Amino acid sequence: MTTAEHMDSLQSFRIRDSDIFLVTYPKSGTIWTQNIITLICESDLQHNSDVSNNLKKMPWLEFPEGHADYSSRPSPRLFTSHLPPRLMPPELKGKKAKIVYVRRNPKDNVVSYFHFCHAWTTLETPKSFEEFLQQYLAGDVAGSSWFDHVREWYTHRHQYDILFLTYEHMILDLRSAVEKISKFLGRDLSEAALCDIVEKTTFKNMKKDPKANYEFLPEDLLQKGQFMRKGMFGDWKNTFTVAQNEMFDQIYQEKMKDLPFTFTWE
Ligand code: PPS
Repeated sequence: MTTAEHMDSLQSFRIRDSDIFLVTYPKSGTIWTQNIITLICESDLQHNSDVSNNLKKMPWLEFPEGHADYSSRPSPRLFTSHLPPRLMPPELKGKKAKIVYVRRNPKDNVVSYFHFCHAWTTLETPKSFEEFLQQYLAGDVAGSSWFDHVREWYTHRHQYDILFLTYEHMILDLRSAVEKISKFLGRDLSEAALCDIVEKTTFKNMKKDPKANYEFLPEDLLQKGQFMRKGMFGDWKNTFTVAQNEMFDQIYQEKMKDLPFTFTWE
């Protein structure tokens, strides 16, 4: 949970050039990319007092666990966030701090989100997929509108040092995604280290990794295993009706036609 006080404090949050942020709309591959980044930066994290899991290594900017004082964290600090640009610390603009932004095709995104609402106990359980789809399209879900989130980060890209990736590209070529992220973060990986990270961050292996798969969260928050559900693209076809798909395509076209995004849908 966050508080208005904490969100206000982000407006005066001091950024360091060495800070690294992972930003996503919910259900876009956050914990996957978080695992990749923490593994790339593993040797940098040894000075942190608690690195027992990825949430400790790369905490949420907007959800300070146990009132963490981020100003006392040793550099480089890693943060995860679902925030839009306007709520991020203003100092991020023009600093050398780096942002990795991952977007996922919104049909798989909404299906993943729908299932997550059944697993995350503080989210309202949707009555039906149709009801949730309408809420999602209206931006009436936690994290607000997918369309606004991806648009705002893209249109503000010149103000930041930002790398854009897609979830689908990560599935299709995980090695190249890991290489891109490590180059962007200025960390040279040996061939062995690269292979090791690719191996550790496959869906199959992450599902077994208690530091990375979020099974460490208490069961009153999350039903076990639900962060690692299917880990694929094209799954939306098993949920969308033909009519829902046609409506979605039309809305997507209207809202996104001026943006150069190409997603792999199936
Ligand atoms: S959250 O709640 O916003 O932090 O969720 P997020 O981590 O962004 O998204 C969860 C989805 O990412 C999938 N996932 C993966 N896919 C492929 N490979 C790996 N290693 C991986 N790790 C997580 C996870 O399964 C969720 O997608 P769905 O479609 O629900 O399976």
